[in-house]
Amino acid sequence: MQNIRKITEDLLYVGCSDRRIQLFESAYPVPDGVSYNSYLLKDEKTVLFDTVDKACSCQFFENVSAGLEGRKLDYLVVHHMEPDHAALIQEIVRRYPEVRVVCTAKAQAMIKQFFDFDIDSCVMPVKEGDTLNTGNHELTFVMAPMVHWPEVMVTFDKTTGTLFSADAFGSFGAINGNLFDDEVDWERDYLDEARRYYTNIVGKYGMQVQMLLKKASTLDIKMICPLHSLIIRKNIGLFVEKYDKWSNYTPEENSVMIAYSSVYGGTENTVEILAAKFAEQGVKNIKMHDVSFTHHSIVLADAFKYSNIILATTTYNAGIFESMQNFIHCMVSHNLQNRKFTLIENGSWAATCGIQMRTELEKLKGSEFIADQICLKSTLKEEQLNGLDDVVITTVKSMGL
Ligand code: FEO
Repeated sequence: MQNIRKITEDLLYVGCSDRRIQLFESAYPVPDGVSYNSYLLKDEKTVLFDTVDKACSCQFFENVSAGLEGRKLDYLVVHHMEPDHAALIQEIVRRYPEVRVVCTAKAQAMIKQFFDFDIDSCVMPVKEGDTLNTGNHELTFVMAPMVHWPEVMVTFDKTTGTLFSADAFGSFGAINGNLFDDEVDWERDYLDEARRYYTNIVGKYGMQVQMLLKKASTLDIKMICPLHSLIIRKNIGLFVEKYDKWSNYTPEENSVMIAYSSVYGGTENTVEILAAKFAEQGVKNIKMHDVSFTHHSIVLADAFKYSNIILATTTYNAGIFESMQNFIHCMVSHNLQNRKFTLIENGSWAATCGIQMRTELEKLKGSEFIADQICLKSTLKEEQLNGLDDVVITTVKSMGL
């Protein structure tokens, strides 16, 4: 049965949700599922904006067919070629042979990589600022390379102020009946997953996101239709402000995140004591993660959120303990910048992971190491408490508290 949602008089939601998926992109846990958004504009011409993942192809084709009500499909706009949105392009062209596929030249080339049909015979290539008049609507195409792949573009409907934003302003999480951000407590219930989605999926490409935000600032946006999660009507300003911070690598929380791993508890005991000392000095909203247990996508999102990051781990096989090594790699590969670090190393006979962590973190632009490194030999000793106090004093000072 079709499950279509009316967005405006002539714009329909024809996407679908997947709550059975274990790992999005085979990498990220999505306990609340994920939605693959697709939109159908029914003007004098009909326009489908993107397809969906093949996981929910049946629902999607029922929706498109019912939405069209027997009309032909004139255009398929392809904003992004990642298969969670593009998997069904070939099948759309097969079912609606008169359709013209509107996309960038780079997307056209990618269509040939993913499919074998003759895209050249049905493509309508577009570039920055090109427009398409569909009757009552004028669509403008805006290039958004690397948000999140090089072929990405977004579309602005000048008539309604709707931005079809591709992966930008998306989030993990299925659509649970409510389709709009003003139908939920978005800041309370959705912002954390939006941050985790942004930082892990697009976080590396801050500069390119900044370029898109600059272009978006010239548009009178009244509604954002992303490719994942809720349609944004109420929180546009807040979401844009968050995107600006995330893509500038500006922390949202002037506080401390402690990420640690501990084999037998000596390192964990130390960071628990340290966290308590921070609290006693008035630091609020302290966050702690055991990186061996918490998925790195969650810890990375908090690394983007917090101003000060304390890393504590064990020397293992003469290197950095594996789960911490993975998390540091995650920060480096996602291009995190401008963070203040403090390092705590442990090693029962040859602690060397501190300098190795520092070498990795120095690859990040704007890294600061603000307190002396603490070196544990198996467990924290009484005489080292002063060292922890120094870490607290230096960190609190760096936060301007
Ligand atoms: Fe949701 Fe980059 O695809």
